[in-house]
Amino acid sequence: MTSLFLVSPHRTLPPLSFTPLSKSLQLPPRCQIQTRARIEAQLTASTSESERGVEFTTGDLFYRRESATARDLAILSSSISHRHLGRGLRVLDAMCGCAVRSVRYLSQGGAEFVWANDAFEGCRPRILANLSSAAPRFSRDARRWVVTHFHANRLFSECYLQKEFFDLVDIDSFGGDSSFLRSALCVVKIGGLLYLTSTDGRSSGGHRPSRSLASYGAYVRPMPFSNEIGLRMLIGGAVREASALGFHVSPVFSYYSYHGPVFRVMLQLGNGKDDHMSRYGFIGYCNKCGHSQTFSWDELGQISCPCGSTKVVVSGPLWTGPLHSAENVREMLELAREWGWAYTNSKNDDLDKLLNLMIDECDPQLPPGYIKVDEIARRAKVNSPPVSTLIHALQVEGYAASRSHVEPNAIKTNCPMASCINFVLKIRT
Ligand SMILES: C[S@@+](CC[C@H](N)C(=O)[O-])C[C@H]1O[C@@H](n2cnc3c(N)ncnc32)[C@H](O)[C@@H]1O
Ligand SMILES: [Zn+2]
Repeated sequence: MTSLFLVSPHRTLPPLSFTPLSKSLQLPPRCQIQTRARIEAQLTASTSESERGVEFTTGDLFYRRESATARDLAILSSSISHRHLGRGLRVLDAMCGCAVRSVRYLSQGGAEFVWANDAFEGCRPRILANLSSAAPRFSRDARRWVVTHFHANRLFSECYLQKEFFDLVDIDSFGGDSSFLRSALCVVKIGGLLYLTSTDGRSSGGHRPSRSLASYGAYVRPMPFSNEIGLRMLIGGAVREASALGFHVSPVFSYYSYHGPVFRVMLQLGNGKDDHMSRYGFIGYCNKCGHSQTFSWDELGQISCPCGSTKVVVSGPLWTGPLHSAENVREMLELAREWGWAYTNSKNDDLDKLLNLMIDECDPQLPPGYIKVDEIARRAKVNSPPVSTLIHALQVEGYAASRSHVEPNAIKTNCPMASCINFVLKIRT
């Protein structure tokens, strides 16, 4: 991880000692008066689950087994951060559900303290039960965990006012609500991590550009690589908010999962504005020839395709830089191998394959987006070749080419669409 552990001026005051909760963050009385009978009744409906050897119960609370890979990635990232810092992490799990992430951050992710929050008070007995099984509430005299039930935005604002900052803030939200982006950034330590989620596939698909503009500041139009656009829209939104606060963020990893769909990005916060303008711009797609390219702000007004068409669909501004940090993802892969998490027999659970794909995607010569092999074959009027054959042919000719973790039957390449068609024709004849 890059060493960005500088301290910005407003963070030079010593943080409040954490015990007990400051008065303004104490639980409202109704959270505290759950009777033992009521708690036991809720816990009877427990469903036992296990992820990477960590046991917890879910009951009827929101829990998706399919998201386990997203949690694995977060744990690998936080553990690496823990190793780099040489101390335990302070983690804020702002929308914790049954607290599976909180439990895993405590047991596996190098957290010395976890703040588990969920606006729904009905989660409380389950969260308490799961956290109690993972770690005692206090270790020596220090709190290991605390549970609250605030709206995330209020929690971030209160934490900021109390000068409570975190090494990792995890926001596992539904939909495309980005209203908490700025307040969340305010409680991430410099050099710390922010794990964001969006499930707004309609916005990334270009079906409601006014919504994506309001939420992430990006006017998104329909494009054939919309699921990568979803990741770039989310990163771009955070880039914009961080910049307004005098910070910058850069992706540690970005992960698209088709269950949902779900877009997740782990970002690292840096102090000071970065010159991100070259990586925050516009992506164009030509419906006539299928070519896509990026445009910078000063190219606005002169957008056209090399095929001569001016009917280029443009989305942006979005993040146009790399989706991951190659250095960080390599470390995550090493750790996954060290822990025996990398190789599994399960098709959906192959971290080794996923992290290697992410490393391939980091090639700086690769532009944003991907091309579906079927689209090239359709334009070439031949059957689709195997993805690996096409990638090899492109690489032999000196082009950058890789698979995409977002779309299995697609390639990422800096080879223009017209030349891709010729390669496919050559392979097929
Ligand atoms: C996707 S679930 C969380 C799942 C959990 N992180 C996991 O990995 O299994 C989202 C949770 O956020 C909570 N929630 C929704 N809006 C919230 C808000 N504005 N502030 C805090 N919690 C919220 C919901 O009650 C729900 O439990
Ligand atoms: Zn064109």
